[in-house]
Amino acid sequence: MKIAIVGAGYVGLVTGACLADFGHEITCVDSDASRVAALQRGEIPIYEPGLKELVASNEAAGRLVFSGDLAVAADAEVVFLAVGTPSRRGDGHADLTHVHAAARALAQHLSGFTVVAIKSTVPVGTGDAVAAIIAEANPAADFVVVSNPEFLREGAAIEDFKRPDRVVVGLEDERGRAPMAEVYRPLYLNQAPILFTGRRSAELTKYASNAFLAMKVTFINEMADLCEAAGGNVQDVARGLGLDKRIGSKFLNAGPGYGGSCFPKDTQALVRIGEEFGAPMRLVETTVAINEARRGAMADKIIAACDGSVAGKTIAMLGLTFKPNTDDMREAPSIAIIGALQAAGAEIVAHDPEGMAAAQGLLPDVAMAAGPYEAAAGADALVLMTEWNAFRSLDLARLKASMRGDVIVDLRNIYRHEEMERHGFRYDSVGRPV
Ligand code: UGA
Repeated sequence: MKIAIVGAGYVGLVTGACLADFGHEITCVDSDASRVAALQRGEIPIYEPGLKELVASNEAAGRLVFSGDLAVAADAEVVFLAVGTPSRRGDGHADLTHVHAAARALAQHLSGFTVVAIKSTVPVGTGDAVAAIIAEANPAADFVVVSNPEFLREGAAIEDFKRPDRVVVGLEDERGRAPMAEVYRPLYLNQAPILFTGRRSAELTKYASNAFLAMKVTFINEMADLCEAAGGNVQDVARGLGLDKRIGSKFLNAGPGYGGSCFPKDTQALVRIGEEFGAPMRLVETTVAINEARRGAMADKIIAACDGSVAGKTIAMLGLTFKPNTDDMREAPSIAIIGALQAAGAEIVAHDPEGMAAAQGLLPDVAMAAGPYEAAAGADALVLMTEWNAFRSLDLARLKASMRGDVIVDLRNIYRHEEMERHGFRYDSVGRPV
């Protein structure tokens, strides 16, 4: 199939590379000429395991090309819209400027019957708006708009795309069904269910999924606090909870709170959508508030572990991005936690395997170190912020020898208390007995 993808950002690039790998002919279009030029030179603007190789092999096979010209959409049977929908400043609604602009620009290039598939995360009703924009801009266009939300995770995006739990396609016009089934036909081999629903249901499913997962993480985080107060181990509780198949074991790892480019913006947007329709999303609203407060609580936890004060102390921070295997600093809990520690008088030295370039601009007063041991050298305390593999097997004796102090605060529960104690550390983690 000939497919065009509008927007060569995170979702657009992964979608394009994976669909090309399925054997489709893909053109990824982006309005940013420098991004297109970089992609044409083989430079991938984001860090995602396996993506560079997948792009290169499909480009070499002639199935994936990059272009700045939307006119390529004329040949496409399906055009995906995969442009960004950031949080709108001030009110937390999704900002649809890029989606609307892409629809308007696309309209004039449509020729023959075309399925316009919205992959961007958009509020319920956006499919209707996009259809109206295209129809107005090009009354002769023969098209349908379907909603095809994306459920991939950063750091595991290719695996998630190729082996999804499900694909959701929302449509109002049956003519969209066969082409979308054809796009995802290779997935039938992996027995992934392709769920066809109404367009509004598909749009809502995306927000419902992210909000539910954010609630799950937030629930276990509160449970971790209760474990600390009442004397329990949140990992045991999570295991006992997660073995119930109705609940499931995933997304029950307690930590410093969720971050990233999706959960924070999508939970806020769902709250706004609920308000707009007079159907308040009270659980989600509370989740947002608890998660925001958690950052301050984590800073307090670190300060408490440092005997009540970090003034004049140096704290080594391992991990800056919102989670491992990404260079994405968007809404990373580290930003607020570091800010609070600095406000309390601490010096921060940090290391992140992929995130330091992006972090530098956001955290100008943080010294960046070349590796975990370099960050730890001379530090009074060390904080494990994300569970990168490189941080899971640290040489604790070497760490202890290079640090000045003996405090480790593990916000991802990577280590066991006994092994830390054996190496002479005072160790605190999340929701586990000290
Ligand atoms: C999330 C969803 O998982 C994807 O399904 C969705 O497609 C994507 O958003 C999106 O809307 O584009 P992502 O933001 O890449 O994916 O990251 P997750 O792996 O879901 O993690 C989100 C946050 O929750 C991270 O800060 C992570 O550290 C935290 N988390 C996750 C926990 O603290 N504990 C857990 O058990 C799981």
